[in-house]
Order: sequence, then C-alpha cells, then structure tokens
Amino acid sequence: MEKEKVKAFWDSQPCGTRDIPHPEGSVAWFDAITRKRYKLEPFISKYARFDQWYDKKVLEIGCGVGTDLFQFVKAEAKAVGIDLSPRSVSVTKQRFQISRAEAGILIADAENLPFKDNEFDLAYSWGVLHHTPNPEKAVQEIYRVTRPGGQICVMLYHRYSLVALQLYLRFGLFSFKPFRSLKEIISLHQESPGTKAYTITEARQMFSMFKPVEIEIVLTPYDLRYWRDRYLPRWVGKLVPEYLGWFIIIQGQKPQEGLR
Ligand SMILES: C[S@@+](CC[C@H](N)C(=O)[O-])C[C@H]1O[C@@H](n2cnc3c(N)ncnc32)[C@H](O)[C@@H]1O
Repeated sequence: MEKEKVKAFWDSQPCGTRDIPHPEGSVAWFDAITRKRYKLEPFISKYARFDQWYDKKVLEIGCGVGTDLFQFVKAEAKAVGIDLSPRSVSVTKQRFQISRAEAGILIADAENLPFKDNEFDLAYSWGVLHHTPNPEKAVQEIYRVTRPGGQICVMLYHRYSLVALQLYLRFGLFSFKPFRSLKEIISLHQESPGTKAYTITEARQMFSMFKPVEIEIVLTPYDLRYWRDRYLPRWVGKLVPEYLGWFIIIQGQKPQEGLR
C-alpha cells in the first residue's frame, strides 16, 4: 500500500520536472532539467565521479528522469537505471532515445533488485532510499548486487538540518503543533508519503556492512530556501555550518570476499 502511494506520487510529478517551461519530452525540456539540477546541486559530480566509471558496470537505483544516468553513459559506463515509477522510466527512455544513447532502463523496486549477486562496480542512488518503505531491505539488496571491492554512493536526507527546521517551523510550531516530531512532519510533508530523514549515526549503522564507509554532510541551496524557487545567496551559506545540511552522502566499498 505504502509503496503504491510512493509510486503514484512520483508518477504524478517525476523528480525535477516541476516548473520546467518546455513541452514534456522535448530536447529543450531535458536540457532545462539538466541545467537546473546541476545549478542547484553542482556537488553531484564530485560524489558521482561520472568520469571514473568508463567501461564499468554502474547501477543507478531510483534514476528518476535519468539526468545522472545520462552522465554515466556519456562517460561510457555500462549503465543500468531502475525506478519504481513507470512514468519516470518512460521519460528516461525517451531522453536516451532522442540522444541515441544506450542504457538498461527498467521499472524495478530497490527492495527487490532484479539482478544477480556481485554484478556491479558501482551502485549509485541519489535521494531515493529514504522514500521507500523499507530502506534497510534496499541497502541489503545494494550490498548483494555490488561486487566485492565495488563501491557505493548514496544520498539520504539529514534529520538535523535547516530543511528539517523549516519544515518544523511550518508544520509544527506555526501550525500550533509544537510537539510533533521531526520524523512525523518529514513523513507527512516532504515529497512522497512516508519520507524518512536520518542522523549520521543511523546512516552509519545502516551502511555498516560496507567497509570502509565515509559519511559527509552537504549544505544545500534547499537549506537556504526562503520561497518556492528562491534561495539566499551562496555567500550566506558560507556562514552556516556544513553539518546543518540536508544531504548525507555515504560512500563505501563492499569488502573483498572473506573480509566482512
Ligand atoms: C527524489 S526522486 C530522485 C530521483 C533521481 N535520483 C534524482 O536525483 O533526480 C526519488 C525517486 O525514487 C524513486 N523510488 C522511490 N522508491 C523506490 C523504490 N522502492 N525502488 C526504486 N525507485 C524508487 C521514485 O520513483 C523517484 O523517481
């Protein structure tokens, strides 16, 4: 039931497509989505390291409309993207078709990946696992399909961040419900129903089977948003501690056989 609601949410508005002023599926539409994404999240390439995956097998879990998947393919990775939302998958296929680029693109569930064990050099997932009802199951699946020595790069939402504070002020304090928990507010009001956000300790625990694992917090424009598409200038961000950021980035390696 819960997963159906998540699917319906992303089917109704695939990720990153809101307020894009071009006909859906056109080259201009895809270009505008790409520009907006990397303008708001320029740090993605630092973590995804698209260029490093030439000829390697990359799995993107929750590829949305395929913007990052396309970067992996441009870097000549052997990339596969999956998403729960049929509309997102169909839009991604369209993006690849019009660019005559090739990737495996399919509807699938992160909690039940349709791949063999130890198949991928990189499992990449940006802003996805906190939307699925059982993220722990998805992490087990990611572990299973990553080859020993293979890497993961995952972005999850951070509970003790400025975005979470904004949500608390709006849906807790100023709604005369000051005792609502952050978990409840995020679950009800942040994108698809049931969204979760994690502490660093929880994220470390969740990915503890990967060794080594590195966790970083990134302060995002969303932490500095004061209206729909309006953000405080970048220099303001320099005055705010990075640890109050909305994104937790987890990078890790699946141990070589026998080292677990
Ligand atoms: C915030 S969007 C992120 C999409 C893309 N990674 C990006 O950064 O643009 C979340 C995506 O996760 C997908 N998703 C949620 N639960 C999923 C699951 N169990 N399996 C696969 N995809 C899932 C949604 O359909 C949606 O496309």
